[in-house]
Order: sequence, then C-alpha cells, then structure tokens
Amino acid sequence: MCGIIGYVGERSISDVLLKGLKRLEYRGYDSSGVAMFHGGMIEVHKAAGKIVGIETLLADRRQSGVEGGIGHTRWATHGAPNTKNAHPHRVQDIVLVHNGIIENYREIQKLVQSKGFTPKSETDSELFAFLVLFEMTDSKVDFIEAIRRSFLKISGNSSVVVMSERQPGLIVGIRNGSPLVASWNSEHGAMLASDAQPILDYTNQVHYLENYDMIVCRKSGIEFFDVHTAKPIKRPATKLDWSADRLDKNGYPHYMLKEIHEQARTILDTLNANFATSGGHIPFDFAPHPGLDQLSKTDRLSIVACGTSWHASLLGKFWFEKLAGLSVEAELASEFRYRSPVLKKNQVVMGVSQSGETADTLAVLQDVNKRGIPTMCISNVKGSTISREAKSAFYTYAGPEIGVASTKAFTGQILMMLLLAGKLGREAAMADSSGKAMIEIEKMYRELFELPHHLANGLLEESATSRATKAAALATQNSKGFFFVGRGYSFPIALEGALKLKEIAYVHAEGYAAGELKHGPIAMLEPDFAVVVLAPHDLWYEKTVSNLQEAKARGAKIIAVGHADDKLLPSMCDHFIPLPINTKKEDGKPVLSETLIPFLLAPIMQLFSYQIAVHKGTDVDQPRNLAKSVTVE
Ligand code: G6P
Repeated sequence: MCGIIGYVGERSISDVLLKGLKRLEYRGYDSSGVAMFHGGMIEVHKAAGKIVGIETLLADRRQSGVEGGIGHTRWATHGAPNTKNAHPHRVQDIVLVHNGIIENYREIQKLVQSKGFTPKSETDSELFAFLVLFEMTDSKVDFIEAIRRSFLKISGNSSVVVMSERQPGLIVGIRNGSPLVASWNSEHGAMLASDAQPILDYTNQVHYLENYDMIVCRKSGIEFFDVHTAKPIKRPATKLDWSADRLDKNGYPHYMLKEIHEQARTILDTLNANFATSGGHIPFDFAPHPGLDQLSKTDRLSIVACGTSWHASLLGKFWFEKLAGLSVEAELASEFRYRSPVLKKNQVVMGVSQSGETADTLAVLQDVNKRGIPTMCISNVKGSTISREAKSAFYTYAGPEIGVASTKAFTGQILMMLLLAGKLGREAAMADSSGKAMIEIEKMYRELFELPHHLANGLLEESATSRATKAAALATQNSKGFFFVGRGYSFPIALEGALKLKEIAYVHAEGYAAGELKHGPIAMLEPDFAVVVLAPHDLWYEKTVSNLQEAKARGAKIIAVGHADDKLLPSMCDHFIPLPINTKKEDGKPVLSETLIPFLLAPIMQLFSYQIAVHKGTDVDQPRNLAKSVTVE
C-alpha cells in the first residue's frame, strides 16, 4: 500500500513529484507529502487527505534544482491518517518515505527511547530514520552504508526511499516486498517509484528492483547493490508497452467510466495478444507459452485471488471444469495460505491479480514455490512481483486501470481464463476425436471476436441497455439494501455486482447464488429492498425466474437483466435491463453462447453501481478506506 516517488534531475522537482503522486494516488489517499531541497536544506510539506491538499500547500512554493526530492501518498496502517503521521518523516537531517510494515517496530521504539529520543509520529516508518541516524553517529559509517545496515535490522516487507541534508543530489531506495521501479536517462535524470506509472510520463524503459536490492540515484545515473553483501549488481531495463496517454481520463468524468467503456478494447487486445495470427482467419492456435505446456500436463488447478480477482476466478473454475474437464478450486488467497491445503505434484497453483502485488496472493505463490509445486499467474502488470514470483505468467491487456474498483481488469482476467480453458478443452477434444466438443469451442472462439462489438453497442450512452441501467439505478438507489442473484455463470457476476455497489456507492449489498435466496436471505425482503436478478437465456433461466418470483412475492423491488427480446421478464419485474443481444429469429437460440454472457453482464453491473455512486456524490475513483493495490495482509 502507499505510493512512493523520488526524483533527481533537471526538471522542476515539485512538478515531477506532484504529477507522480497523482499517478500513484490510487495506491492510497489518506495523506500525502513531499520533501525537497531548498537552499541546502530539505523542506517537508505534508497534508491529511488527498494529493490536492499538498498541491494547495505547494501552489506558491514550486521548486526546481538538482538536489532531489521524495514524495509519498499514504494508506494508513500504523497510526491515524493525519498530517503528523503523513510521510515524509524527518529525523534530524534524514528524511524518508516508507511503504510496508516494520514488524519489529516495538523493539526499535525501545531503542529510540533508550537513547533519549521521542518520535514525532505514531508510525513505524519514522523509526527507520532513527536507525540510519544511529548507524551514522554510533558506527560512523556513511549515509548509504547506514541505510543498508539499518535495513538489515528491520523485519517484515518494506521499501524505503531516503535522502539527507548531508548529501544533496542523492536518493537511496531499498526494496523488500513493496515494489520499487526506477528509470534514468540523461534527459530526465533519475526516478524511483512504487510502480511504473509516474515514470511513463518520461520514459518507457524501467528497471525493476528485486527484494533486497538497494538503488543509489543521482542525476548522473543509477546504481544497484545487493543489500546483504553491499556488492554492485545489474538490473537491466525493461521496455514497457503502456503509454502515458492511457493514464488520463480522456474526457470521461471518472476513470471508472472510461475503464468500463474500454472493455471492448480489453477483449480485442487480450485476444490479439494470445492467439497466433493466421492469415486473416479467426485463429485457434495460441502463441507458444511455457505455462500452456504446464497446464496441459496438470490434472488439478487451484486458483487463488482476492476481491474482484477472486470473483473472476470463480468464473474461471466454471469454464475450466466445463470446457476442459479439469478439477479446479477457486480460493481466497487470505484463507488458502493459512489452511493446510493438500497439494499434489501434478497440480498447478495459479494466482490471479490485476496489480500483481496483492500480499496474500503473492504469499501463496511464494509458499507453493517452496513446496516445489508449479505456479503461474494471470496479471495485468508486466514485471509485477507476482508475475515474477510465478513460474510462468499470463497477461491480460486491459492497460492501466486507475479507478480503484476493478472493471476492465476483471474482463481481461475472465477472458484469459476462458481462453486457457478453451485451449485445454480443444486439445482434449482433438485427442479424443470429439468433433462436437471441438466445434463448440471453435464456435465460442469465433463469437469471442464478435463480443467487443456487442459490448460496445450495449455501452453506447443512448443504447437501450445503458438507458435502462441508468433508469433502474436511479429508481432504486434509495433502497434499504440490495441482493444480486444469479445462477451458473451469473453467480460470480452477482457477487461482483454487489461488491461494486459496496465499494463505490457505500450501499449495503450482497451477492447470492439465486438458489440460496430461500435459505435465509429471503427473510430480509420487504418493499423497500431491491433484488437484481441476472436471468439471461441460459441453462439456468427457468430456475432463476422461479427465484425471481419468490423475491417478488415478498414485495421486493425487482430489477431483472435478460436477453433484449425476453417476453417474460419485463412483465415480472419493476425494472428490466435488456442485454445488448437477443435470440436468433431462425431457431430461437441466443446469438451468443451462454458461456460469453458474463462479458455483457459484468459491465452492466459496473454501470449500475456507477450511476448510483454518481448520484450519491461519492468519490467514484477513490472510494473511502480502499486502495487499489493491497500489499499488506
Ligand atoms: C483491492 C482492490 C480490489 C481488488 C483487490 C485484489 O482490494 O480494491 O479492487 O479486486 O485488491 O487486487 P488484485 O490486484 O490482486 O487483483
């Protein structure tokens, strides 16, 4: 959690730090701060709340100069989210920002007190600056060596970036756990950040620090060292394929809305990136990938994830089971890691994580790697910690997702799992000469290439889908509570729909398998309660409609989502949201395989919550108490 930035170079330090912090704000926004050299001294400016606070403070204090500066945006762990606890922290001439948790902070606190000092904040972070000070004064080592030695005295996952008034023009960073990415070129100087997004404004060549790497940044260059041995190491640059223009709102009022609309592109980009091209025809062959060989050999898959990524994994489970006949469990990473999961040698554990940094998902992969079981991951961020921890990585091509509530990344994840399940299923069908299964899977692949078109149509502002979604959201926004229900593929979407509403509109909502409604939740239903029923034409349609009736009979307001030409649903509900597809005139079959309906349902659920949040006036992109990248357990 938290966003860190550091810069030494010719550009205006305050501008680079502020712009960078805004790029990192999604990582936490309880408070922020910057520290910059000015006249040989380091000035520290901090404010509670969002970056705008610090921006106002700095309005007439813009700084340039080549001595450097650091900045931080915080998601509070130790100590309340106020100005005192905001970073950077200063101890005498040493100033630092920190991301992570110092687990042995009590021990260090005692040491600090025993030496007659009183920390100014309640944070564990400030204590690190005391360790550096003690190394310099007691052990008489230089600043860089003092940071290195101090880092070896702390436990837990942490990254720090430190500067000192004794060393203008120098910034030192160490990574363990929480990521740090660096860049340098002669034009823009040296930069260090929690992720590549602030750097992309200047260059797409970045260096990822590994755990226990130390980086020394000067305007003239960057150097890497092993923290344990103090020996120089090499960390070659990686070229990123994201560009800075994908980091802006492009005219949308919120990132979330922009990202909802980008889902058609996510589907196309992910398809194009994974399939080997084949002369203008719809390709069925994947580009070669070591993870594919591993998956083909496995007979059991455990998928681990958190939040929205877990909902995506539940859908993945459905598809792997149905298309590939693979035994799959989709587990919450925070639970999986503290159980005693029985793992077999021929199974694979797959972490699904948009950011590739989520602490629990990462910890599972680390444990599993130690046990010698193959690991893989699906991530949206190349070079992320999880993608490097996993033995093989599949990527989604959603581009940077800035809105804290995940939207397009979810679509990328479910698509990637569907593609993998289809690939395994097609292989099995070829081996068994099962023509029918093969035809089904190839039909689904063909339809996947049509999906972006259906989705883009549905999301047009004037489409029947968008208008009905908005109308239903506004009419029911003041309901006492919401249930989202669905069966089969729609069940994980119901869970995700409820999560979205809680996350961005702070409205109480629960997702249920529609068949579970009668086993307890139905007791909650009364006229000012709303039930969103996901009832596309699929295998479960009749049963879902029965569940709708049960809810309706208790007087709840019913919002039903179904095929555009469904004749029954509109007559049974208070608000009907048509999917942007209908059934075929010739044979009455849906135009899209039921397997693909989640790709249309999910954006409708996102839009529904978005409309309610906008009406309530909540902070859609940065909802209270949340952060996008959760690097603490
Ligand atoms: C946080 C975010 C969620 C996200 C979850 C997992 O809680 O607010 O939107 O689903 O982390 O993140 P990951 O990056 O692992 O997918």
